[in-house]
Amino acid sequence: MNILVTGGNGQLGKQFQKISRDASHRFFFNDKADLDICQKDQVSTFVEKSNINLIINCAAYTAVDLAEDQRDTAFLVNRDAVKNLVEVCDQNRVALIHISTDYVFDGNHFRPYKETDKTNPLGVYGESKRAGEELILNSEISALVIRTSWLYSSEGHNFFNTMLRLGKEREELNVVDDQIGSPTYALDLAKAVLVCVEKSKLWKSKRELYHFSNEGVASWYDFTKAIFDCYQMRCRVNPIPSEQFPTKAKRPFFSVLNKQKFKNDFDYNIRHWNDALKSTKI
Ligand SMILES: NC(=O)c1ccc[n+]([C@@H]2O[C@H](COP(=O)([O-])OP(=O)(O)OC[C@H]3O[C@@H](n4cnc5c(N)ncnc54)[C@H](OP(=O)(O)O)[C@@H]3O)[C@@H](O)[C@H]2O)c1
Repeated sequence: MNILVTGGNGQLGKQFQKISRDASHRFFFNDKADLDICQKDQVSTFVEKSNINLIINCAAYTAVDLAEDQRDTAFLVNRDAVKNLVEVCDQNRVALIHISTDYVFDGNHFRPYKETDKTNPLGVYGESKRAGEELILNSEISALVIRTSWLYSSEGHNFFNTMLRLGKEREELNVVDDQIGSPTYALDLAKAVLVCVEKSKLWKSKRELYHFSNEGVASWYDFTKAIFDCYQMRCRVNPIPSEQFPTKAKRPFFSVLNKQKFKNDFDYNIRHWNDALKSTKI
């Protein structure tokens, strides 16, 4: 299969670069500078020229707080550009795997969210990602939409790297302990997506929505403590409520995803977030 990974230099895109070396497919990695998904002609030309069979869309506008002031840009990338991908896929019989987010939920649940649960994003980023999901799920193409949460890796701007930096710089840190979710190691997500690629017969000619994160739950405080334990950092961590750390965008208090559908359909075991975290050290 010829596979195009859009947003190939982003956090998740880079994990695909790592694992694609051992995969049997031919991968093409592009980022905004060489393939802007907002430019339909660019996508269309590339897909035709390179005989692409599958697009894995890792390109996105991911600045959750900035999105509150840049609504148009967030929707341009997370909705309008996704429409471009859907149309190109439709015209060329190409399948699409698209990544979405737990921030489509409002966090008022106290049990893990299923794919069938009602969405109600609290901010512009979540709204724009939901709009992208809907375009795909209402289309006629072969597609998977995979929602994930609290994505991190040793590359890119993410909570994990920020905590490692602050943990070196400071003796003490205050971290929010009333937002609960599941940290997801981007490498684990990329590997799970490759399993979906290998088992593409299961979803050919259909559109399916899945949830995927590492197992287990944590607050940002729990996650920080675990990062510092893992990296033997002595910085003290204090739990604080969200109201003491105001952000431009509201975030869900609870965004744990139920992954049963993914585990059943792909016969897949997911490791605990703490085991995944420990593996980042190796
Ligand atoms: N990060 C999280 O905590 C998190 C949580 C849940 C879900 N997700 C979802 O997971 C996916 C991957 O996220 P990530 O953390 O890997 O994000 P990321 O590191 O921000 O990567 C996104 C990539 O997309 C590129 N991009 C932006 N606009 C583009 C365009 N018009 N054309 C082509 N490429 C474009 C970006 O390039 P520039 O940097 O040059 O703009 C960047 O390389 C996204 O769909 C995101 O919504 C992320």
